[in-house]
Amino acid sequence: NYYAILMAGGVGSRFWPVSTEDFPKQFHDMLGTGDTLIQKTFHRLAHLIPTENIYILTNERYNDLVLEQLPEVTQKQVVLEPAMRNTAPCILYASLKIQKENPEAVMIVAPSDHWIEDEETFSKNVEQAFEFCSKNEALMTLGIQPTFPNTGYGYIEFDKTANNDIKAVHQFREKPDYETAKQFISRGNFLWNAGIFMWSVKTVIESFKNNQPDLYKHFEAGISAYNTPSEEAFIKAQYPLAENISVDYAIMEKSDNVFVIAAEFDWNDLGTWGSLYDKLDKTENGNAVVNARTLVEDASGNMIRTKKDKIVVIDGLNDYIIVDKEEVLLIFPKEKEQDIKKVLKAVKDKF
Ligand code: GDD
Ligand code: MG
Repeated sequence: NYYAILMAGGVGSRFWPVSTEDFPKQFHDMLGTGDTLIQKTFHRLAHLIPTENIYILTNERYNDLVLEQLPEVTQKQVVLEPAMRNTAPCILYASLKIQKENPEAVMIVAPSDHWIEDEETFSKNVEQAFEFCSKNEALMTLGIQPTFPNTGYGYIEFDKTANNDIKAVHQFREKPDYETAKQFISRGNFLWNAGIFMWSVKTVIESFKNNQPDLYKHFEAGISAYNTPSEEAFIKAQYPLAENISVDYAIMEKSDNVFVIAAEFDWNDLGTWGSLYDKLDKTENGNAVVNARTLVEDASGNMIRTKKDKIVVIDGLNDYIIVDKEEVLLIFPKEKEQDIKKVLKAVKDKF
């Protein structure tokens, strides 16, 4: 009864120029290991879940990329969105489809672009959660020990008195402001939301029904068409009209049956070039290099990526992102990496 939905609809604009709208980061080999991020995620989940029960949710423009990179997957498993409406609509839609196929399904919802190395511990934590969700009406998340007041994450306040692995959640707060995040961290019983959820299909649909009745009705109206040939027409017409909202705001913040397992594995959501730099092995000078052959004199802390085997000579430059891609060369200070989104926009406007 185990299922997975893999979210692969994001654009990853802070990884420009490698990640683009036509070819977003989940379809790239960001780590230089030979596998793309979505391939790594798929294989991580395939240890736990029958391959044919792993669904990929993505924009219709990425259909071919998915089928090419995951030859194990059939078209039926690729759930296509005609528009980007954030994570709540796609999760609800896929859940209703899965429920129609198997009302007893227990599932994991996972982003396709995160870094998790210790697969064994990951599997162990997910299995614990699956077991709990099979018996309880729980919305489960994996929590990460926070290290600084990151305002881009969800925060999970857990019950301090619980001394078992699975803890009840008092409060789920998506993307608090900096001061609030600081306070949360100082209180000690807060975790970051890893963005990986586990629940039974029954429980998550119930939660949408109660907390997002309009969104629920919107997709429920098509239920008789789901998994039949008339599904496409319904989705083409109705999907783009769904509210644009993330699952965190839509149900996690509003539900009182949320539980968390503190992840025992190392996790990184690979949001920026700097977070990728942190996770890659470094050269003796402290540079992270993907694909390039480098001759480094006096330079360290750089994130360097080129096309295969390109020779890069670098001297006198520290803590930069250096990315060479056919028509674009990016040389940008690591500390300003959040601005790459803005730069991309400026580039689009100008050229
Ligand atoms: N299929 C599909 N369709 N996938 C989508 C869509 C969509 O419309 N929008 C986003 N995704 C995918 C992204 O590619 C990513 O893998 C995942 O869903 C989460 O979306 P993000 O946009 O990256 O969310 P976030 O980073 O702002 O916040 C979430 O993740 C954090 C951890 O990385 C939240 O769950 C936070 O609470 C969490 O801390
Ligand atoms: Mg993210």
